Amino acid sequence: MTSTELKIPAHVAIIMDGNGRWARGKWLIRTAGHKAGVSALKQILKVAIDLKIEALTVYAFSTENWKRPHAEVDFLMGLFSEYLAKEIDEMDEDDVRLHFIGRIDELSPALCRQAREAEERTKANTGVRFNVAMNYGGQDELLRAMRAMAAEAAEGKLEPASIDEAVLEEHLDTAGLPPVDMVVRTSGDLRLSNFLLWQTAYAEFWFTKTNWPDLTPACFVEALKDFGRRDRRFGGLKNK
Ligand code: FPP
Repeated sequence: MTSTELKIPAHVAIIMDGNGRWARGKWLIRTAGHKAGVSALKQILKVAIDLKIEALTVYAFSTENWKRPHAEVDFLMGLFSEYLAKEIDEMDEDDVRLHFIGRIDELSPALCRQAREAEERTKANTGVRFNVAMNYGGQDELLRAMRAMAAEAAEGKLEPASIDEAVLEEHLDTAGLPPVDMVVRTSGDLRLSNFLLWQTAYAEFWFTKTNWPDLTPACFVEALKDFGRRDRRFGGLKNK
C-alpha cells in the first residue's frame, strides 16, 4: 500500500487504550500490557513514516492518569524514559520531529530533561511530526492558553478583540500543527477522554474493539482507508 492509493489524513490522533485489558486477557499483569503497547506504537509510527503522514499525536498519559496506583504510574514513567532512550536514534534517522504536549515541566526533572533534549535533537527534522501527550488534558491545555492570552492582554500586548481561532491556536501546545483529521481509539470505548478537545472539532472518528497492543499496521491502514471513504463537509454541502 502506498500513499498514492490512500487519501492520507494530515494529522492522526490516537487514544492507545486497552493495554490493561490485553494483559488481563492473557493472565498477565497490567504492566505487561503497557510494554506490549510500546511495540505497537513503534509499528504504527513506522506506518506513519512510510505513508508520510504529516502529524501523529498519541495519548500516552493524561492529567487524570495520576489517579492510578503509584506503582503503575512509576512503571509508565520508567517506560516512557526507556522508550525515549532506546528509540531516539532511529527516530532521528527516520527524520521524525518529536514534540511533547501537556504539562511536561511537572514530570520528574530527569524525564522532562530527556523529553526536551529529544525535542531539541530532532527539531530540524522535516518528516513526521510525532507528538506525545504526557500529563496532558484538553481542558487544561485550553485553560493554559486562556491564561496566557489574558496575561498578554493585561500587559497590553494582545488586544482582546483580536482573539480569534488563529490566535487561540497559537497558544495551544499544538501550535503550528494542522487540525486533527482522524481520531483512532482502540479497545471499544466510544469517548474522547479530554484529548485534543479544540483540535478535533471536525475530526473523523474511528473506533475498534481491538486492544492497543493488538493494533497491527494492517488494522491502521484499514482505518486510513475508511477515512478516505468519509464525506467530510465541514458544515458545508456534500463534496462531489
Ligand atoms: C491505556 O491502557 C494506555 C495508557 C494509559 C497509555 C500508555 C501507553 C503506552 C504504554 C503505549 C506506549 C506509549 C509510549 C509513549 C511509549 P489502559 O491501561 O487504560 O488499559 P485498560 O483501559 O484496558 O485498563
